[in-house]
Amino acid sequence: MSLLMPERDQVLAAHIAGVLTDIVEHAAADPSSRRPSPLPDARAGSRARDELGVDRDQLKAALGTFGSGVTIVTGMHDGAPAGFTCQSFFSVSLDPPLVALSVMSTSTTYPTIRDAHRIAISVLAEDQRELSNQFARSGTDKWAGVAWAATPGGAPVIAGCVSWFECEIESEIEAGDHIVVIARVTALRGSQDARPPLMYWSGGYQRFEA
Ligand SMILES: Cc1cc2nc3c(=O)[nH]c(=O)nc-3n(C[C@H](O)[C@H](O)[C@H](O)COP(=O)(O)O)c2cc1C
Repeated sequence: MSLLMPERDQVLAAHIAGVLTDIVEHAAADPSSRRPSPLPDARAGSRARDELGVDRDQLKAALGTFGSGVTIVTGMHDGAPAGFTCQSFFSVSLDPPLVALSVMSTSTTYPTIRDAHRIAISVLAEDQRELSNQFARSGTDKWAGVAWAATPGGAPVIAGCVSWFECEIESEIEAGDHIVVIARVTALRGSQDARPPLMYWSGGYQRFEA
């Protein structure tokens, strides 16, 4: 193709090829140059947002687009079960088996169950929406009319849940107005039927369409 180019363009093409070769060779020799640099727009945008502050409502709305299941996190306190509704439950590691949850630092229940270091996480079924609401009301008798059973380690799980995990608390990280709790799974029961889980996003419960 270069044979069809005027001589001036051929010189220019050769020059560009040389520059490109230099860049490639430099990148191969210097590993730091292979790190992806932030996209210019994203970098400028996040800096501006840091300075101006993030709009709380917009943040909640955006985070709300990330749908998930709903759990009830429980433990024993003074011989009685205690618990609270928790959506921010997520898997961390298979080996070792670790899960995590994010707890509001204003929770009155979590401090009472953390002392035993053993908690249970019940993944709610689609028909357990009322239980989700019940365990989200601070200062009420959350266990009124609730059937539960103990895990091998003695933590209470909600009857009829889709699955449950018995865990020992490994560590806690204070993060803003929440505490991120990392816990090791010590026993579990997976779903024995095909019932769908309760789903929550955009500020409400949603039907899970398989
Ligand atoms: C669907 C749903 C999801 C929730 N997810 C969380 C959560 O991830 N972390 C949390 O700390 N609270 C969450 N809450 C709120 C707590 O359940 C509520 O603040 C708690 O039960 C307060 O009671 P307590 O003072 O007895 O702890 C959620 C509530 C609902 C209805």
